[in-house]
Amino acid sequence: MTKILVTGAAGFIGFHVAKALLEKDHIVVGFDNMNPYYSVKLKDARLELLSKYPNFHFYKLDISDNDAVEKAWKKEASLTKVINLAAQAGVRYSIQDPFPYVTSNLMGFTVILEKCRRQSDFKHLVYASTSSIYGSNKELPFSESQKTDAPISFYAATKKANELMAQSYSHLYHFPITGLRLFTVYGPWGRPDMSIFKFTKAILNDEPIDVFNNGQMARDFTYIDDIVQGILAALEKPIIPKADQLHPIYNLGNKGRESLLTFIEVLEKSIGKKAIKNFLPLQDGDILETQSDIKMAEKNLGYNPKTSISEGISNFVDWYKSYYHSER
Ligand SMILES: NC(=O)c1ccc[n+]([C@@H]2O[C@H](COP(=O)([O-])OP(=O)(O)OC[C@H]3O[C@@H](n4cnc5c(N)ncnc54)[C@H](O)[C@@H]3O)[C@@H](O)[C@H]2O)c1
Repeated sequence: MTKILVTGAAGFIGFHVAKALLEKDHIVVGFDNMNPYYSVKLKDARLELLSKYPNFHFYKLDISDNDAVEKAWKKEASLTKVINLAAQAGVRYSIQDPFPYVTSNLMGFTVILEKCRRQSDFKHLVYASTSSIYGSNKELPFSESQKTDAPISFYAATKKANELMAQSYSHLYHFPITGLRLFTVYGPWGRPDMSIFKFTKAILNDEPIDVFNNGQMARDFTYIDDIVQGILAALEKPIIPKADQLHPIYNLGNKGRESLLTFIEVLEKSIGKKAIKNFLPLQDGDILETQSDIKMAEKNLGYNPKTSISEGISNFVDWYKSYYHSER
């Protein structure tokens, strides 16, 4: 039984990671500021489920608040494994309002890095980066060796900054840090600002869905259970890079690429209803296509995504219907 800090534990991915760890009888310390970027009710409902596990210790705090983090860290006595998922997510919102990205992704991550490096017996920090950092790279699939120095959204810029910040800490303080570039994660308990959630809601309510770039986009949609498997596998593989080597960074995707229109078709089938499509131009910050090369994660982590989009979408739709049917 290990004690693991999961930041962003009330968030979509943090909730699933925390739950998986609790199921394995670990002690999970959760941090989350419960910000209203999207429904706090949904975050509360996730926390309600986690709180059923006696090994779950939750702190409502902002990771950019050094004193609050310090206090909780001390109270938990020994935090030696950390999964940092707390961040301001969302490509489009980062163009509207960049400031929460600076607070959570830059200041917040700095606080976490500092706490980790000051913990004497610290074992491993795993943090979330994103496929968005590949920007307008044309060569598919995206592999970790490609250049990522031309982000096309402020969100991606802050995540690229996270990778550089982690690299400097890895170099200076020699403790294990692993970065994970996640590719469009979806599944039950997902984020209301993501397309699958918005589309499902609109289709069920007979409202139109906004289809950007006239549907000429493609994504490597990755099911949440596969991502959780990858994150937990990464946590088990702490590596201190040799001098002049970079800290490990892995793509976690599904190694496929589905066009947005195919994704909508599968969703329509799963819901049993056609979407009313409102075709719109490409939005600033949006990448046209993503596809992951996951060979490194397969080889070094035993990462093995298995969920097809039809299975994953159907699980999402089932969850959505039952959650909003029973919603208070
Ligand atoms: N969902 C995806 O497709 C995807 C893809 C790539 C990367 N990521 C990254 O994975 C991580 C988790 O994403 P998610 O989809 O679960 O998002 P989410 O918004 O559901 O979860 C993030 C959680 O962090 C919390 N949080 C935000 N700022 C905080 C702060 N300053 N202090 C404490 N808590 C804070 C939020 O309240 C939220 O509950 C993020 O780092 C995100 O950038 C997600």
